Amino acid sequence: MTPVEILESMKAPSQTNGYSKPGQLHALLKQKIFQLKQERQAIILAHNYQEGAIQDVADFCGDSLGLARTAQKTDAKVILFCGVHFMAETAAMLCPEKTVLIPDLAAGCSLADMIIPEQIKTWRAKHPDGLVVCYVNTSAAVKAECDYCVTSTNGIKVIEHLPAEKPILFVPDYYLGSYLKAKTKRNIHLWKGYCPAHAAILPEKVDQLREEHPQAEFLMHPECGCTTKQMNLADQVLSTEGMVQYVNRSSSKEFIIATETGLLNRLRTQYPEKDFYPASEHATCHHMQRNTLEKAFMALVKMEHIVKVDPEIAARAVVPIQRMLELI
Ligand code: 13P
Repeated sequence: MTPVEILESMKAPSQTNGYSKPGQLHALLKQKIFQLKQERQAIILAHNYQEGAIQDVADFCGDSLGLARTAQKTDAKVILFCGVHFMAETAAMLCPEKTVLIPDLAAGCSLADMIIPEQIKTWRAKHPDGLVVCYVNTSAAVKAECDYCVTSTNGIKVIEHLPAEKPILFVPDYYLGSYLKAKTKRNIHLWKGYCPAHAAILPEKVDQLREEHPQAEFLMHPECGCTTKQMNLADQVLSTEGMVQYVNRSSSKEFIIATETGLLNRLRTQYPEKDFYPASEHATCHHMQRNTLEKAFMALVKMEHIVKVDPEIAARAVVPIQRMLELI
């Protein structure tokens, strides 16, 4: 059944027919989602890149760290995770007693797919005294082979906590790794993974925007492909939530935003009096865009798609995540 057919079957006989205008369908879907959340004792967690309609029905919107923390402390029975698969996996591992759903199982992460567990085992064999730090954008199977996990918010703090003499492998994001290496001056071996959406942000375009908008502050996500060139020029290197909070604190009226363009929805909704310029219109994540309001509705109707991690893998993968959460 399609979302519209299900809505029809849920309707009271007195309700009039037809969802001809997209706004009408969305309004009804939102209403039913709020109803279903109560029935299922569910909460909706939405990443900052998700479309506005999903953020409207979410109980919490945030970055990877905020979402993991919220999953950890909720007493809801069901978490509908509107984000990508590794984020839902993290929630499933932190709350094994809850049902974690994702609207579209194919919402993966190209960056997370750039490293597999065997590659970490190979590095460890060559560096038996080394430590492996993974970005949260990794599969549970990869996390299971790592010592510490980081998000875009806390990488410096976690790396500085590690013994200075140990070699460190950082996976999979080369640019976040380069940033952490420059900031901590540690012996970090970098994996050559990258986020295709952030790689679309080019230094030349950033230079041009900075010339066009000299008053604008330049906020950059550390996954940006141009991190190595622009790092010293960026006014701030921040996670997605860090950008939202920073705009709130700043007296500036204009910002150049170097991250996936989905964040602009949230910024423009929350701060309509300020202007935001995307560092690239092409910085879009097709995985994040797989989740839609219709699929979120269907997920709660059918209680699908359940995200589960093999218990043996989860028992190991949760260790680097917990170490990170305890440190910050
Ligand atoms: P944040 O944790 O900064 O939201 O980033 C997550 C991510 O996947 C960025 O591409």
